[in-house]
Amino acid sequence: MFGMIPCEKGPIPGEYQCIERIRLEMSRKTRLIVDGKTYELPLVTGTEGEKAIDISSLRSQSGLITLDVGFANTGSCKSSITYMDGEKGILRYRGIPIEQLAERSTFVETAYLLINGELPTRKQLNNFSVLLNDHSLVHEDMRQFFENFPRGAHPMGILSSMVNALRAFYPEIPEISEEEEINVTVTRLLSKVRTMAAMSYKISRGHKVVYPRHDLTYAANFLNMMFDSPVRPYRIEEEYVDALNVFWILHADHEQNCSTAAVRLVGSARVNLYAAISAGICALWGPLHGGANQAVIEMLMVIEENGGDVTPFIERAKDKKDPFRLMGFGHRVYKTYDPRAKIMKKVCDRLLKKMKISDPLLDIARKLEEVALKDSYFKDHDLYPNVDFYTGIVLRALGIPLNMFTVMFAIGRLPGWISQWKESMDDPAWRLQRPRQIYVGNGKRDYVPIDKRR
Ligand code: CMC
Repeated sequence: MFGMIPCEKGPIPGEYQCIERIRLEMSRKTRLIVDGKTYELPLVTGTEGEKAIDISSLRSQSGLITLDVGFANTGSCKSSITYMDGEKGILRYRGIPIEQLAERSTFVETAYLLINGELPTRKQLNNFSVLLNDHSLVHEDMRQFFENFPRGAHPMGILSSMVNALRAFYPEIPEISEEEEINVTVTRLLSKVRTMAAMSYKISRGHKVVYPRHDLTYAANFLNMMFDSPVRPYRIEEEYVDALNVFWILHADHEQNCSTAAVRLVGSARVNLYAAISAGICALWGPLHGGANQAVIEMLMVIEENGGDVTPFIERAKDKKDPFRLMGFGHRVYKTYDPRAKIMKKVCDRLLKKMKISDPLLDIARKLEEVALKDSYFKDHDLYPNVDFYTGIVLRALGIPLNMFTVMFAIGRLPGWISQWKESMDDPAWRLQRPRQIYVGNGKRDYVPIDKRR
């Protein structure tokens, strides 16, 4: 039997002493000693000094694999897109702090930055915006698909199916180069996903579809497609457009999160981009991931219905026998306040004040945060509000219905998925993603005919 033994830091800097069979020495070279045999493994250092042991030759050298359920300690790639430090609460896209982007950029500009690696010049940004407008219409035949989904179908299910269906409506163009084909697909996706999201909302309500307009910006166009109607023309408020831009910027990428990992994994089988993004949408749907923004509001509503006292919910979240968790709290990487949540909280306060909106759920959220942050359980477990804690209140203020919240996240995450997919396609070291396992089932045994089974 073989098992990793917890190591204590040794007396020599950079050396880790292990008690029995395994010893790991980390300096510039990494040596792993198992049962007296030494294996040399490369040490990889990132831009910010973060270190990893490259174990890709471990099995061929030693027959050993590593086991890391949930991949909490496993890097799946080298990436130059997003940097985050969960201990310090840092998030940067292509090196630029999220605070600066939220303050000064737009979602379209941030999408360009993520996908192309640099901020666009004015001309590049104009061209990109024109292209997004040019591709914003959806094939009319796709409306039949939308109309035939059962009423009450979740918009995330609809969106993932429709994104996958885009390949059938927009097949590969053999006359253009692969690079051009990717650029067209990327632009189509960014532009059409927003149209499809608004379209699914209108159709679900039995309302007339509103087409995209050439004269509107990305976020304004989306709000208009969602809320304009022949009987009540929609007035586009600048505050709403600004808040939506920040919301999407904050969601635009988050390195190797569950849905991005899904996009990269599915994409590694070299499927088309639409199929890979569709997989990402499905992963995002889950309440532990993107679905948490909807779950937060549902939780706040239940607290409100129960009189507004947060204490019983805090107690339930701490009770190990109760599966209830405080939604919008905790994060796999952030062990401090999520920097996106800090920004979202400010946006939320500013928007509600400016638009003179009063939302009782905001008061409950504030109270919940205050009580949880003082509670030793939450302190000891490093549980702080994450991005989803305040986003739901902003989305409600914009008029977005609850079941569309995760769709809003998906539109925002699209540039991240696309840039991560592109990076993986261009990576010369890229391989089909295929994890291994440790089998713990039955040993070999014989087939028993059905009449002899008990
Ligand atoms: N409420 C109560 N306890 C919690 C919570 C919570 N929200 N989150 C984690 N814990 C506890 C958990 O019970 C466990 O306790 P113990 O060690 O005593 O058994 C410990 O903290 C570690 O939990 P974990 O599930 O191993 O941690 P993880 O890193 O796998 O999970 C998480 C991260 C986000 C899934 C989790 O914190 C959670 O379920 N949060 C609520 C859902 C949520 O808000 N998700 C949105 C994440 S941010 C948006 C995004 O990027 O998708």
